[in-house]
Amino acid sequence: MCGLIGIVHKEGNVCEKIHKGLEYLQYRGYDSCGISVMEDGEFYANKQIGPISGLKKNCHSGKIGIGHTRWATHGCISIKNTHPFMHKNLAIVHNGIIENHSEIRDKYPDYHWKTGCDTESILKSTYEHLKEYRNINDEITDHADWNYAFEKMSEELDGSFAVAFMDLSYPDTLFFIRKGLSPLSIAVSDDFGAIASDCLALSDMSDHVIDIENGQYGYVKAGKYEIKPGNINEKRHIIKSPKMSEKSHDTWFAHEFHTQPMVLSNALHKFNSAFTLSDFEKPKFIDILGCGSSYYAGCVGKYWIEKYANIMCRVQMSSEWKDLKGYDRTIALISQSGETADTLAAFGKQLGAHKTVGFVNTLGSSLSRAVDHVVPTFVGQEVSVASTKAMTGQMLSLFLWATKLSGVNKQDELTELFEKMSCLINKLPENTKEVIDICANVDDLFILAKGNLVPIAYEGALKIKELAYVHAEAMSASELKHGPLAMINPDSSQAIIFLAPSSSSLWSKMLSAVEEVHSRGGKVIVISDKPEKFNVNYSVKMPYIEEDLAPFLYILSMQWIAYGLAIRKGNAIDMPRNLAKSVTVE
Ligand code: F6R
Repeated sequence: MCGLIGIVHKEGNVCEKIHKGLEYLQYRGYDSCGISVMEDGEFYANKQIGPISGLKKNCHSGKIGIGHTRWATHGCISIKNTHPFMHKNLAIVHNGIIENHSEIRDKYPDYHWKTGCDTESILKSTYEHLKEYRNINDEITDHADWNYAFEKMSEELDGSFAVAFMDLSYPDTLFFIRKGLSPLSIAVSDDFGAIASDCLALSDMSDHVIDIENGQYGYVKAGKYEIKPGNINEKRHIIKSPKMSEKSHDTWFAHEFHTQPMVLSNALHKFNSAFTLSDFEKPKFIDILGCGSSYYAGCVGKYWIEKYANIMCRVQMSSEWKDLKGYDRTIALISQSGETADTLAAFGKQLGAHKTVGFVNTLGSSLSRAVDHVVPTFVGQEVSVASTKAMTGQMLSLFLWATKLSGVNKQDELTELFEKMSCLINKLPENTKEVIDICANVDDLFILAKGNLVPIAYEGALKIKELAYVHAEAMSASELKHGPLAMINPDSSQAIIFLAPSSSSLWSKMLSAVEEVHSRGGKVIVISDKPEKFNVNYSVKMPYIEEDLAPFLYILSMQWIAYGLAIRKGNAIDMPRNLAKSVTVE
């Protein structure tokens, strides 16, 4: 993953500009960060562990520099492994993975490897190939040394990478290369040249970027750039995310959680006026692909598509996608960021014979540019790493797709739903207090549901893991007696949460499942509009909601419980450990 940026600017003070750009890129990882500025034939680096906020803004006044925010893959989180890396005349920052980095290490056994990162193999390989060229060519024109090095190093290195380089021999030029899925864009004006993993990092300097495609390399400086092979990349307007409002709560997670009814209601309005999903012919079969919360949104979507539109639908994790050759179908790829490498890789595997539709929150992202048809989820930028509104926004757009495909009109029910969501959000802090107390004191949580709430149980478990770092396992309540019931033990430090709306067509079976756990001494919590119907001690009272819309209300209770647990544990809410907002490695 990681985010990189490089700026060369006639006015100088690039350090501050790079720092600003890194703030936009922080969603790509925040294990450590660093900036290196070149001045008077030397590199000056400034690095630190943790997020950008602690990194000095004015470390140096030079005119050219590169910066990086890291999500560790190879090598532990340490200053030693923090980019930029320098070797002799070169400094580099890298996003991606070098799969054969240990081969490269073996190739240069006498070299003193200074870091544990795969990135150092790019540095060494590039350095050697530049030296090779320079040793045999006295006169170098048109950056022929770099063109040679790029050709050689991309042959030598396997994997997916985007890299920016500074070279002391070219004090006004930044070099770059992209191979594979790691995105890279450049921006140029008379005053500056810049490069970044995400156009948003350049949005304070420019309205347009040029996207670098897989296999391209080149350079950028003030007023000039070159991209090879091709050099025909078109300019793209940067779609800036709407100005982020001030947060209404201490954390972005809480802010985004609270805004969901309003955000979804606005999204519905936009869907109704600008929506083009009805442009689709009714597909015979739908494959839905996504990762994490987006995958779970897809799983809920499947229920609606099959129920309303009567279309067979299969949901798979993007990373596990297997083609069903010979099927005429639409492939729906769901991604908040539009940059998730697993989902992009799945897209790359599709055979071109199928229609693709991307449910994407970030317009201009790689996925939104690649698919045949984009459906924006219209929820605005989501800052918290743990998703709330982006996931419910995906659910809403899938719900609308299903209803449009079938001609069913659910507008009034949705308006009523948003009101119920608002009321519930106000009541959850009080209604969940006792349950959060219980959950905070156990080691294992089981979350059980039936029907269209099974994916919500999984999403709830994911939220608890990523925010509270507590073991939480989801399953279908129907599966209990096929094995997991053996885990229920009054002496174990565990609690079992059931999502149990009375509107469920499986309600009577749910009553039995709860009873089966309760009678074996399990510590049961029911989340239900009719908790009094269960013979249990702990519950969260919910409003009544029709079965099809229950996922929208029940996810709120799980999001809030996860948040409450994380607060109890004193965890970082918006930037959970080891994670990043956009997962750009496979
Ligand atoms: C969890 C979460 C992740 C993402 C997943 C896919 O709260 O946010 O599980 O849903 O990494 O990301 P996108 O939707 O950007 O493809």
